[in-house]
Amino acid sequence: MFIGLDLGTSSLKGIVINDAQEILAEHSVPLTVQRPHNGWSEQDPACWFAAAEVALTALAARVDCSAVIGIGLSGHMHGATLFDGADTPLRPCMLWNDTRSHVQAAQMDGDPLFRKITGNIVFPGFTAPKVEWVRQHEPHIFGRIAKVLLPKDALRLFLTGDHVSEMSDAAGTAWLDTAARDWSDDLLSACQLSRAQMPRLVEGSAASGKLRPALAAILGARDVTVAGGAGDNAAAAIGAGVIRDGTAFLSLGTSGVLFAANDAYRPDPASAVHSFCHAVPDTWHQMGVILAASDALEWLSRLTGQSAAALTADLGPVQAPNRTLFLPYLGGERTPHNDAQIRGQFLHLDHATDAKHATRAVLEGVAYAFADCRDALAGTGTVIKGALAMGGGAKSAYWLQVLANTLGFPLHVPADGDFGAALGAARLGMMAATGADASIAVQPPIARTVAPDSNLQEAFAQGLTRYRAAYSVLKNL
Ligand code: XUL
Repeated sequence: MFIGLDLGTSSLKGIVINDAQEILAEHSVPLTVQRPHNGWSEQDPACWFAAAEVALTALAARVDCSAVIGIGLSGHMHGATLFDGADTPLRPCMLWNDTRSHVQAAQMDGDPLFRKITGNIVFPGFTAPKVEWVRQHEPHIFGRIAKVLLPKDALRLFLTGDHVSEMSDAAGTAWLDTAARDWSDDLLSACQLSRAQMPRLVEGSAASGKLRPALAAILGARDVTVAGGAGDNAAAAIGAGVIRDGTAFLSLGTSGVLFAANDAYRPDPASAVHSFCHAVPDTWHQMGVILAASDALEWLSRLTGQSAAALTADLGPVQAPNRTLFLPYLGGERTPHNDAQIRGQFLHLDHATDAKHATRAVLEGVAYAFADCRDALAGTGTVIKGALAMGGGAKSAYWLQVLANTLGFPLHVPADGDFGAALGAARLGMMAATGADASIAVQPPIARTVAPDSNLQEAFAQGLTRYRAAYSVLKNL
């Protein structure tokens, strides 16, 4: 038996699978995000540790976990969790969608070494510029940093007592030599840091340590290997069997991700496409990332006082987009704009605009942002011909149809629901504990395919043209 723990932005999810990879139990513990200032986004690591203990306890109450031999971890990427020499967090974690360090990111990105070695733009959401922000604004904390850990690696420290990371998440720090799959001493020293302040690196499918006896006791298990695991997107890919070159998924989580697996390292930093290591050896992947996908719908839900489910429940059949337009840049944007300062926009509101029109515009606006990612990936030579649909937002058939119409390729919906990153983490746990290889990460059976509606594709293409025109106005405001 194996456990997958996925530290998401809005919840920590745990699942238990058996040797046949059937899901025996699941449990989610909600988490909140603190936004004390514009552009800031933080979580207290102590909440993750408490949530993991609650999840393990709940899983063990649902199913006999005494046969668990492997745990895999997944987590939201890029967060800077800073620890002192006694393994105590020095401040709240600055999350992936925290853009306060855009000045520091631009400074680092001006040094060509970063793009050359990491294969990526230094985005404000990445770990390195956040730590540089701490150096400039909280020098008393910077001076006490013994270890910089990514969120799921901070959770690993709680679970095992070890300082370890793995390639897929480390690639999102701006300190990894992505081709060599190793920390870059040059980049670390450019940030006044050293390798000693970084965790040891393993592959995601390799062992990273053992579950502490006190936590193993919660499961009634004795010898539990904790795998390297993966950043949440690479973990979701392992869960969906997206490893082979040419396979892809589209994720409608808090963020939106268009993910393509690569059998070689294909960097193209100028495109704002992310080029990272995958979670199994000798594989890489590319992503277009938008900062607000379901998060944009959640924002509208707060604004209207109606739940996201209520807003999307009753939209009727997908029609050609009307003139109301929404640009989802609520906290800046990554692909393709790399702009931390830009903000969202509603356009063409009139007296008849109601919550339904606004919802449609939000769903369409996110789809247009995905079209920008599709084109950024195509610019690197990665042409997506179809993708698995993942994440909470993929439960909306309406949204999937809007996306297929906009993107012009089919979206495949997995049959057994979407266990995404938690399943990928559990599979990595299985690989690490048993020595199984990546062939255990099969693609899920497909329940249905949402194909583009050829009668509406032209209307959505026109919507995309208007969206891009609106962006070029907005960026200069
Ligand atoms: C990827 C990214 C997000 C987070 C949160 O680069 O920032 O997808 O991993 O899920």
